[in-house]
Amino acid sequence: MTAADTPPHRNFYGRRKGKHLRPSQEAYLREDLAALSPGAVTRADNPDRRPLDLAALFGDRPLWLEVGFGGGEHLVAQAERHRDVGFIGAEPYINGVAMLLGKIRQAGADNLRIHPGDVRDLFDVLPDSSVARAFLLYPDPWPKARHHRRRFVTPEHLEPLARVMAPGAELRIATDIPDYVRQTLEEVPRAGFARVPGDLYAPWGDWISTRYEQKALRERRTPHYLSFRRQGSAGSG
Ligand SMILES: C[S@@+](CC[C@H](N)C(=O)[O-])C[C@H]1O[C@@H](n2cnc3c(N)ncnc32)[C@H](O)[C@@H]1O
Repeated sequence: MTAADTPPHRNFYGRRKGKHLRPSQEAYLREDLAALSPGAVTRADNPDRRPLDLAALFGDRPLWLEVGFGGGEHLVAQAERHRDVGFIGAEPYINGVAMLLGKIRQAGADNLRIHPGDVRDLFDVLPDSSVARAFLLYPDPWPKARHHRRRFVTPEHLEPLARVMAPGAELRIATDIPDYVRQTLEEVPRAGFARVPGDLYAPWGDWISTRYEQKALRERRTPHYLSFRRQGSAGSG
């Protein structure tokens, strides 16, 4: 991407704002977000967009990415556990961003940055092969057949994700929707990932359950956990 490139128009079907924010959450957004955002370079409407300088953000730490972090419980816990890793979370729902900011104040994690928007705008400014691990946890299910093309596991999202992931990097996907498992198993390998064999019902050893998973369990839906590895060797992309 060059600064002159205009990003394509993108439809976003999710929510950006929900019920009103508490005064404390307004304060987190006002006082903390700018310092924790990778910068205006990620904004699709910024004519000065340029590739992110990951070394300036995280030094030589590897980068892990969480797509759609919701309330941020998984992201902040991973960042606390892995201080030697740099994390970026993307989430367009500003109420979720405010919840994460509150958790970061408590945790004091310094290895975490937030892109408060559509992850596709972040992909535009991430260097090729720069992500060592990615998490896609309970992506929006879009249950109606005519909406399946809005799901994250479609080429529009998976192709740029594949570009930014390093060969051998792990992609973790959790979902409670059996038809989402079907589409994931069809689409993710097509985008250049190999399934890591494993028990579909066994969470990862370091799993931190998310708000959405708790809701799914209360509503008696079954979590599924899938792992993939980005194919290719270093240099081949
Ligand atoms: C069902 S929620 C799950 C949230 C969280 N991962 C959890 O498990 O509790 C899906 C989240 O993905 C976010 N999302 C949807 N499309 C996105 C996109 N293009 N980029 C980043 N996040 C996105 C939504 O805003 C929403 O918060």
